[in-house]
Amino acid sequence: MSSLRGNNGPRYKHTAAESAPYEAITVDKLTPIIGAEIGGIDLAKPLGNRTIDEIHRALAENLVIFFRDQHITPDQHLAFGRLFGDLHLHPAAPHEPGLPELMIIHADKDSPRANGEGWHSDVSCDLEPPMGSILYIKECPPVGGDTLFASMYAAYEALSDRMKGYLDGLTALHDGEQVYRGIYANYGVKDKPAYPRAEHPIIRTHPVTGKKALYVNRGFTRRIVGVPRDESDAILSYLYDHAENSLFQCRFKWRTNSIAFWDNRCVQHRAMWDYWPATRTGNRVTVKGDKPA
Ligand code: SIN
Repeated sequence: MSSLRGNNGPRYKHTAAESAPYEAITVDKLTPIIGAEIGGIDLAKPLGNRTIDEIHRALAENLVIFFRDQHITPDQHLAFGRLFGDLHLHPAAPHEPGLPELMIIHADKDSPRANGEGWHSDVSCDLEPPMGSILYIKECPPVGGDTLFASMYAAYEALSDRMKGYLDGLTALHDGEQVYRGIYANYGVKDKPAYPRAEHPIIRTHPVTGKKALYVNRGFTRRIVGVPRDESDAILSYLYDHAENSLFQCRFKWRTNSIAFWDNRCVQHRAMWDYWPATRTGNRVTVKGDKPA
């Protein structure tokens, strides 16, 4: 992994726009680049307009936000998601009985795999990939099971001007087929005839912040459209290594009843399955997004 050293300070110099003070919530940054813990809020109670606006702003400014010590029912979890848009139905993953929008996130000693073990942006193979994901963890291993999040704004900004120019206007194919086929058979999930695939710009512009973000990920992206295969493989391999640089990351240590809410339009994440044979379990509500542009 490159250290991204420069000869005149760091090659990636992060500058954050001046944030207005928050009045309804507290916001404690995990790093200057990504991640903040939100306090002064009980998600089991109705939220006022100012609180909701400030959560939107905290997400836009920090890309992923965390809430501790929350005690919410499945209905409250779903209702919180709906504050940010219509809810997304996962094309493959199991859900709680009768609640198709409440995805099960679970791994224990008998699991063949855990969710999200490789770097990815959720369901980027959809034509309109999810805007955000809200994960509520209810049972934690005694240690481990952290989730890593990486800023794709920072990854874009840290590319050379030459590379930004090369990628400008290029698209890549994202495919769910190899990711999802057979993967949830242990839950009794029957495969669909086909899983989503979509072509998206490699550099997308965030519809709320107007910032550019790198939008390829090791999980779903298969090839760059319109260039020879060997060139596509080499460029994607460089972009994945670059996007996964620890300079762009924060790492969230879960406790029981914590919630993470990340913006898939500018964040990739990876869940660590370092806690086997312990159990980690929770639910994810996913909010629909737009076609990347
Ligand atoms: C996922 O939604 O990709 C899983 C993340 C996690 O379990 O931390």
